[in-house]
Amino acid sequence: MKPKYGIIGCGNISRFHFNGLRKTGAEIVHISDINEQAATPYVKEFNSRFSKDYRQLIADPEVTVVSVLTSSKYHYDICMEAIKAGKDVICEKTMANNAKEAEEIAKASLASGKLFFVSYMKRFFPAVRKAKELLPRLGKIFSAQVRAYQNWGTDFYNLGNADAFEYVLNSYGGAVIKCAGSHMIDMTMNFLGRPKSLYANVDYVPGSKFDRKATALFEYDSGLVASFETATHKLSRIGYERNSWDEFIQINGVNGRIEIYTVLWDHPENNGALLVYYDNESETSTEYRFEAINPFDIEMAYFNECLEHRENGNPNVIDGFNVDMIIESMVESSNKKAPVEIDWKGI
Ligand SMILES: NC(=O)c1ccc[n+]([C@@H]2O[C@H](COP(=O)([O-])OP(=O)(O)OC[C@H]3O[C@@H](n4cnc5c(N)ncnc54)[C@H](O)[C@@H]3O)[C@@H](O)[C@H]2O)c1
Repeated sequence: MKPKYGIIGCGNISRFHFNGLRKTGAEIVHISDINEQAATPYVKEFNSRFSKDYRQLIADPEVTVVSVLTSSKYHYDICMEAIKAGKDVICEKTMANNAKEAEEIAKASLASGKLFFVSYMKRFFPAVRKAKELLPRLGKIFSAQVRAYQNWGTDFYNLGNADAFEYVLNSYGGAVIKCAGSHMIDMTMNFLGRPKSLYANVDYVPGSKFDRKATALFEYDSGLVASFETATHKLSRIGYERNSWDEFIQINGVNGRIEIYTVLWDHPENNGALLVYYDNESETSTEYRFEAINPFDIEMAYFNECLEHRENGNPNVIDGFNVDMIIESMVESSNKKAPVEIDWKGI
């Protein structure tokens, strides 16, 4: 059965969802935002119903899937209500405010038997999908490095206080780990699975909860240790595109190496993400240069397909939980200044 969408939240990120859904020809029957003005153009375009109160959207019997595109602090309440109402869910990242909420959402969703996707859209770069296909060729993986650096235009390393950036914490429940790092944490687990323990240092603007840098070692049962770092910076010409966006994952196996360089998140039309694959047997490096395509478009088409055919896929509610659990474990490890065993709560 063709899914019928209810969209909650028409802010910054929603345009990518609306664009992707428009291209797949999806039916959007109900839209909600506390700010009616933000919703109006979409309500008109899709000829959909409008509610200021998202509960009315969830109660709409025609809505089969609820897209949760509000600030992350509202995700828990909205997701739980949608699950209780028997709806499928697409939720923006990060799925919840903390690991406890993420655990409850995951358990409720899994018990409901309905579908639940989390929008970690970087998995849908063609470079990432190709790398996943090539991964088994690497053989035993002995090291991995992951970076997510973003230029936020401010020197957070010489800032007296972070009062002016309180809105970031308010909207997203955290700063660089949630906004920048979460995607590459998901990417790490997409390729390497769940670590069993981690050690992390989270660096805050002094006197605040604004995390400006976080460094972690993810430790795996196999003995692999992956190193991860996310940071804000104001270096304007670093990174693959030399435009300050500096994000990559490198995975080293006994038979070769994979490197992926992603592109500026809201301008994927400039360049395709780059994949470099080194094969040790032939001693050749291959650069895969894919077309500059918006991963949101591929993601929306994929979720729509899964929903129509009632198939689970990734990233799903467990992937959403995984990232929230890693983030919380990083903060815990940093506070304790000690490694933390990760309790995956039987999920
Ligand atoms: N995938 C990515 O790269 C990416 C990038 C940016 C943001 N995000 C995620 O997208 C989500 C939204 O972020 P944003 O930047 O679009 O925020 P935003 O503040 O621009 O938009 C949120 C919208 O939700 C509306 N809203 C708030 N409470 C509501 C409620 N109770 N009912 C209905 N509408 C409500 C607001 O009025 C606003 O229009 C966050 O979870 C964020 O982490 C993801």
